Amino acid sequence: MQAYLLEFVNFMLRWLHVIAAIAWIGESIYFVMLDNGLRKPKAAEDRDKGVFGEMWAVHGGGFYHNQKYATAPAKLPEDLHWSFWKSYTTWLSGFALFVLLYMTNPGFYLVNPNSSWEWAANMSGWQANVLALVFLLAGWVIYNEMCKRISPNMERDGVLSLAVAVLMIVVAYLSVQMFSGRAAFLLTGAVMATAMSANVFFWIIPGQRRMVKAMKAGEEPNPLDGKRGKQRSVHNTYFTLPVVLLMISNHYSFVYNHEYAWVLMSLFIFAGALIRQFFVLMHMGKIQPAYPAAGTALILVVFWLAMPGGQATTGGATLTEAEGPSFEEVHALIDQHCVACHSRQPTQPGFSAPPAGIAYDSADQIRGQKERIQQVVGSKYMPLGNMTGMTDEEREVIAAWSE
Ligand code: HEC
Repeated sequence: MQAYLLEFVNFMLRWLHVIAAIAWIGESIYFVMLDNGLRKPKAAEDRDKGVFGEMWAVHGGGFYHNQKYATAPAKLPEDLHWSFWKSYTTWLSGFALFVLLYMTNPGFYLVNPNSSWEWAANMSGWQANVLALVFLLAGWVIYNEMCKRISPNMERDGVLSLAVAVLMIVVAYLSVQMFSGRAAFLLTGAVMATAMSANVFFWIIPGQRRMVKAMKAGEEPNPLDGKRGKQRSVHNTYFTLPVVLLMISNHYSFVYNHEYAWVLMSLFIFAGALIRQFFVLMHMGKIQPAYPAAGTALILVVFWLAMPGGQATTGGATLTEAEGPSFEEVHALIDQHCVACHSRQPTQPGFSAPPAGIAYDSADQIRGQKERIQQVVGSKYMPLGNMTGMTDEEREVIAAWSE
């Protein structure tokens, strides 16, 4: 019952998380598009009112006329629309999911028993939980300090962008060393997503509040508040596509269990940012296919690096051609090491249904999954957390299995 309840809550939280994220990111993409798509106002009276740009649009059977003021209109309306709950809901539901999915079972899901860092491979569950929280928090603190120190007046934003890119490579590298591959991808995405939400919470919204307050008091708003909001919101723009990719990576073990998973992760992050750049420029009226072409090239590099059969995908297990084992031998190993979880009725506590929908109750089910089994066993991704203690010799038997 408890496992079922957790599973159900997980499902519903995921629903909420995805909906909130769609609403948030959708709005963010819309506003970047709007901002970049502004044209000089045509009517002289608009220009006299202080309108700096406008966009005409047709959508859902209606015509829309957006105007952006260079600083602010002479008088602010009372019913100003604010956007922040979508961002906070996305972060809160995402964090709740992380707690539910990973932190309730850190020994399986967070610890990387194959880490080349011995202390990380031998972490206890609660140590892994604490480390994951520290990792998230430190990611934000370091990113935030970098923004404040490198470009405090928004005059060195280019240098800052480069520094943030390097920071992301470091985050990717550290996460893969310290956590299991699946958790590493998720946590790197979560570091970016936390920065995005914290940018909204600590800088963008408070800055806007100060600006509105100043205007209502008849004072000039501090232009740094506006510029800083813009700086952080530009970062958020380039974080979005990589974050979405990392968040949906959890079933694709061929990338996150790769020996150089951090390189693949970094390539994906840059590919996402490059593709985003294309759309940013497109809305300014500049079509520059070099950006998506470069992004696609990076994705192809990942494709090539993660291709099965390469040395790199074995993740350290030495897969040698042994005497072809009989299917009975393979079947016995699967029974012994996998079926506690991968069964229609798992006996492993905490599992109420076969994980990833994969059950090995019959010989046919096992035969039908041959390549996938060899891949996850070879990369040492399965058995999860090596909970059932599979030896390297046993892994070689699975690797040598051919029908
Ligand atoms: C302790 C429980 C447990 C054991 C034991 C276990 N698994 Fe899994 N397995 C899981 C969970 C949980 C997932 C889902 C993880 C995910 O979504 O990536 C999973 C996912 C998988 C997947 C899908 C991975 C993907 O990338 O799509 C395969 C294949 C798999 N297991 C095979 C095996 C094999 C083969 C064994 C035995 C050698 C095994 N598992 C042992 C819990 C277990």
